Amino acid sequence: MKVLSIVGARPQFIKASVVSRAIRQSEGVDEVILHTGQHFDANMSDIFFNQLSIPRPDIQLDIHGGSHGAMTGRMLMEIEKVLLEQRPDRVLVYGDTNSTLAGALAAAKLHIPVAHVEAGLRSFNMQMPEEVNRILTDQISDLLFCPTDTAVKNLKNEGFANKLVHVLQVGDVMQDAALLFAKKAVAPADELPNEFILATLHRAENTDSPERLAAIVSALNELHQTLAPVILPLHPRTRKLIDQQGLELNVHLIEPVGYFEMVWLLDHCQLVLTDSGGVQKEAFFFGKACVTMRDQTEWVELIEVGANELVGADTQKIIAAAKIGLGRQVKDTQQLYGGGKAAQRVVSNIILKG
Ligand code: UD1
Ligand code: UDP
Repeated sequence: MKVLSIVGARPQFIKASVVSRAIRQSEGVDEVILHTGQHFDANMSDIFFNQLSIPRPDIQLDIHGGSHGAMTGRMLMEIEKVLLEQRPDRVLVYGDTNSTLAGALAAAKLHIPVAHVEAGLRSFNMQMPEEVNRILTDQISDLLFCPTDTAVKNLKNEGFANKLVHVLQVGDVMQDAALLFAKKAVAPADELPNEFILATLHRAENTDSPERLAAIVSALNELHQTLAPVILPLHPRTRKLIDQQGLELNVHLIEPVGYFEMVWLLDHCQLVLTDSGGVQKEAFFFGKACVTMRDQTEWVELIEVGANELVGADTQKIIAAAKIGLGRQVKDTQQLYGGGKAAQRVVSNIILKG
């Protein structure tokens, strides 16, 4: 059986690393890897292939930038050509980026079955590009690998129980990655303070809104000055928009780091402040309280167990939540994310269901 996996953005390399490893450990399934090129800087792409031993992509499309429509459209055209040439038995897509949607759509139009890892997540905010991508991808997938019970419930509510598709709760492949690579943690090369808040910021809903971006920058500056040093590996999108808006971000800025450096930062920080999907869970995997600078989250179980607090882009709410969360330990007592077996379940089901 030939599976063609489609990746393109940073979180997809991390998710694919564990699934690709499980594929290589299984008999009867071969993988072809296609990289759309959505993320292309060495520290946004190559570093993950090197650190996480992901095989070099068999196909590199080098498509990035432009509007959402243009990027997705160009990917759709080029992925279709590759699928016609490669004729895989199945296409495997991850998460909710433009690469995810383009890959799923190209496959579905050619009647190639699609497996979606991270199916069923919903923020119920259709303004988010990720929400559009994940809803459409789920609609054209026949193997829907849900990371949580909530994701399964979301799909049931959308009528998936009546469709001839498989909705399976397999756990979260990002927990597999965190467990597998935690022992490889390495300190970033930069000189860093001993005690710090780890922050990440890149989501379009924050960076593309001048008001939200300014309010978050103001909160980070204040926390850095008065509570604890804030270390922020700055996503290229955010760097561009902060420059464009002429904002002064006076925290400890570093370049985006590899996954081994990131797990070190997660392990050593006193608090996580983020708008990332993946980093919200990783805070939990490393026992740290998380303050999420968004209005909704797909990972609602973290809110329910008190590990995560949603504060939007409100300067005062961010500061107040950070003060309460600093140094607070959280515990994964309920095995919310599958305990590190998700990738194996994904691959077994692909083999079983064809
Ligand atoms: C994308 C995903 C988002 C995900 C994020 C992970 C979509 C719609 N969004 O957002 O869901 O959370 O990836 O990080 O797919 N850039 C560089 N170098 C790079 C990568 C990007 O300079 O290596 C620049 C691009 O040129 C562009 C900007 O950053 O100007 C945004 O990149 P893009 O891939 O469009 O979206 P992300 O914000 O990264
Ligand atoms: N990450 C990383 N280096 C960084 C920032 C993030 O390795 O400088 C990892 C992070 O640990 C997580 C993934 O990238 O595994 C999350 O990706 P991102 O926040 O870009 O996207 P999202 O999860 O929001 O889609």
